[in-house]
Amino acid sequence: MKVSASGLYKRFGETQALDGIDFDVAGDISVLVLIGPSGGGKSTLLKVLGGLEIPDRGIVSVSGEEMNFSSELSLLEHRRRNGFLFQSFNLFPHKSALANIALPLEKVHGLSPSVAHDRAIAALERFELTEHAAKFPAQLSGGQQQRVAIARAIAHGPGLLFLDEPTSALDPEMTAEVLDLIAELKKGGQDIVLSTHEMGFARQVADEVAFLTEGKIAEIGNAAKIFESGEDPRLRQFLSRVMRY
Ligand SMILES: Nc1ncnc2c1ncn2[C@@H]1O[C@H](COP(=O)(O)OP(=O)(O)OP(=O)(O)O)[C@@H](O)[C@H]1O
Ligand SMILES: [Mg+2]
Repeated sequence: MKVSASGLYKRFGETQALDGIDFDVAGDISVLVLIGPSGGGKSTLLKVLGGLEIPDRGIVSVSGEEMNFSSELSLLEHRRRNGFLFQSFNLFPHKSALANIALPLEKVHGLSPSVAHDRAIAALERFELTEHAAKFPAQLSGGQQQRVAIARAIAHGPGLLFLDEPTSALDPEMTAEVLDLIAELKKGGQDIVLSTHEMGFARQVADEVAFLTEGKIAEIGNAAKIFESGEDPRLRQFLSRVMRY
């Protein structure tokens, strides 16, 4: 992947959610994982990278192209090119799993109904969800819903896939199901930027890990470096807390 940001700031009222983010990830890194304490700015950064939140200032470049935050059309194109899974973007409750995947392909990506249908069928097959195609979200387990949501996010072949805590609110077995799927996507060559509180998974799947706290990237590096020889005291303290159990 190729993603960079410089001098990125975003304030919500009194809260400085992003307080000068600078990073540059390039080369054969296919999974970038954001870790850090609650409120550190992970979701906000993901939203900015995904074109869903406009920063107060700063430059962001994704896949070699500088994002133009002042053009709604350009942001719309950016969102079309990439894929997202955010907790607030739930499945449509009154649509089947199949329709949940097919509809955005039609309405957002402009595919014909029959092509969208075939593409949705293929996405369900890929994640072994075929038997659930006709079910409504309420008839699916949390893990299955999340897999449908991920299938929806990748059905159009996104350049980059942004996942914000894809396993929060899932029990351990469903978490494993979703984490397997993400590892599978990585194997298939999908570039992914994700935030997670699952440190074991982060360490396993990440090529690069960024530790965010108080709106800044306090440390960034490969997974082994961050988890074994991180230098920032806040990172060490964070890891010693979350790795204790
Ligand atoms: N829309 C908003 N309005 C007001 N404050 C916000 C908004 N979005 C985020 N914030 C604040 O910005 C800060 C960063 O939030 P963010 O959601 O990016 O953190 P996070 O690292 O994703 O945390 P968590 O691990 O709990 O998901 C927090 O203090 C949060 O309360
Ligand atoms: Mg968050």
